[in-house]
Amino acid sequence: MKLFSVLLTCFILTISLNAQKKPINVDALLKKMTLDEKLGQMTQIDYEAVKNHADDLIKYSIGSVLWGGNSEIVNITAQGWADCYDSLQRLSEKTRLKIPMIFGIDAVHGHNNVDGAVIFPHNIALGATHNPAIVEKVAIATAQEVKGTGIHWAFSPCVAVVRNERWGRTYESFGEDPELVRMLGAAHVKGLQGANLSDKNSVLACVKHYMGDGGTTSGTDQGNTVADEATMRKLFLPAYTDAINAGALSIMASYNSWNGIKMHGNKYLLTDVLKGELKFQGFVVGDWNGIDQLSPNYKYAVEQSINAGLDMAMITTPRGSFNSYDKFISTLKELVNEKAVSMKRIDDAVSRILKAKIAMGLFDQKYSDKALLAEVGSPAHREVGRDAVRQSLVLLKNENNLLPLSKTAKKVVVAGKGADDIGIQCGGWTIDWQGKSGKVISGGTTILSAIKNTVSKETKVTFSLDGSGADSGDVAIVVVGELPYAEMFGDREDLSLSMDDQTLVQNLSAKGVQVVVVILSGRPMIINGTLEKSNAVVAAWLPGTEGQGVADVLFGNYAPTGKLPHSWPKNMKQIPINVGDKEYDPLFPFGFGLTYPSARALK
Ligand code: BGC
Ligand code: BGC
Repeated sequence: MKLFSVLLTCFILTISLNAQKKPINVDALLKKMTLDEKLGQMTQIDYEAVKNHADDLIKYSIGSVLWGGNSEIVNITAQGWADCYDSLQRLSEKTRLKIPMIFGIDAVHGHNNVDGAVIFPHNIALGATHNPAIVEKVAIATAQEVKGTGIHWAFSPCVAVVRNERWGRTYESFGEDPELVRMLGAAHVKGLQGANLSDKNSVLACVKHYMGDGGTTSGTDQGNTVADEATMRKLFLPAYTDAINAGALSIMASYNSWNGIKMHGNKYLLTDVLKGELKFQGFVVGDWNGIDQLSPNYKYAVEQSINAGLDMAMITTPRGSFNSYDKFISTLKELVNEKAVSMKRIDDAVSRILKAKIAMGLFDQKYSDKALLAEVGSPAHREVGRDAVRQSLVLLKNENNLLPLSKTAKKVVVAGKGADDIGIQCGGWTIDWQGKSGKVISGGTTILSAIKNTVSKETKVTFSLDGSGADSGDVAIVVVGELPYAEMFGDREDLSLSMDDQTLVQNLSAKGVQVVVVILSGRPMIINGTLEKSNAVVAAWLPGTEGQGVADVLFGNYAPTGKLPHSWPKNMKQIPINVGDKEYDPLFPFGFGLTYPSARALK
């Protein structure tokens, strides 16, 4: 009886508390705001730029903070991130209107700045699954990990349709085919945002980079996409249409130009097409100091981009410089006072941002929910990662059905720089902006450990970088490929496997060893020579922390289902090569992927 009355009191209390919450009216809030407060909402500052001047978040009523790929917070565990988040968000309470700030981070393959997070395969690998269900699961797990640290906005998915794999961001793209990208991009948005954006496990997606980022000439990062409008619409627009239909409320403008005009200043595409034709109700955020690229004249650059339809500027330089947040705010204020930017445009931008904050439930739940902390790096999420990995592997060659290997083999030789290196497995955007080799992150399973976990106790597993210890008749798993890189540093003239990788495979083959090559890379590579010298080849992309998924395929716990999301060229001269080209003669076509005879897969 006593328990019943306690429960009843709790129930009544909850109802009355809920009844007190009045829905926030954007127009009413907008009316209360001064011009300065509105300009603050339109300003997003990078953590590095503001960490020694946190009071500026209050002084300027800043609307948003981001952590860039190189932001250094003191404690990069999930708890450390949650504390950092909470302490910054607390500052919003000190502003006049107490509007919560929105915090964004590049959670592009899991919550990849957090030590101990599950790192999921990069998008190119998810593209190889051709499976929206697994992409949605990955995004749900990512959202939970992000929310576990209090953060509520992920700068993902990247829906670039990559047409030239020289581009160093190829791995951030689901592939070369607009249909594949639109399907998986929408699944990713759904997974991040959940059934309702205000759910405790949902985060706001940020679809990027609008638009044409994967189509630049020679695959140059931040380059120029030369295409007529019909081509632009056919290749790059569908992913945005679908993402918006899936509920996306933020989109990031791209660094690239379209026929020589920078996207950050393209009114036709940002306003007429996106907000008009596509009826996008959310807000457009700029990319990292993207406004500055419009003109050496900063005032002119700000005017162009805000009038083109940019709603929030991403600003990463510390105060005092010509392009810093204080400068952005004073410049935009001048432009408004001179009527070069209308109040209507400002109100439109601010109400879009506020609407998203309200839809996210940010006004009600500002701080991290400690109960969600345990989601970060959870065993359940590692299982999702493992599943995504095994679905993403593409079997390119399997001479005499060498794969799957027997779990009870006497000896398995493991070699190559990628075999026991979690950093190489994860690639760029892992703890560091550019990623790095070695033990960058706690937790996870290297491919070598995964192999050891999979084979019988009696099987001898040897490991060396250079394949020493292998004898004629042995089977060797050789893990080769690219070293980590990210935007600006990943563009390549030559995508051949390194000489070391090629020599390793050749030496083993010359010894009479049966060679299974596993390629860790963010894109198709030029594998002439190596392909002939190996007995089996698997494209494993950048699988992330859950290397067990690779062993699952190699040893037949899972028969490969992955299919190429990008045409695999024979040589550099063929690039760009894309499905549907008039002349199309790749080494392996888009959609290619072998599997095992089913009986063997089950052994
Ligand atoms: C990248 C974006 C990223 C942003 C924030 C930019 O350089 O192009 O993809 O979201 O930085 O880190
Ligand atoms: C940041 C990245 C950003 C890049 C752009 C880096 O310092 O950490 O997040 O994308 O700069 O220039």
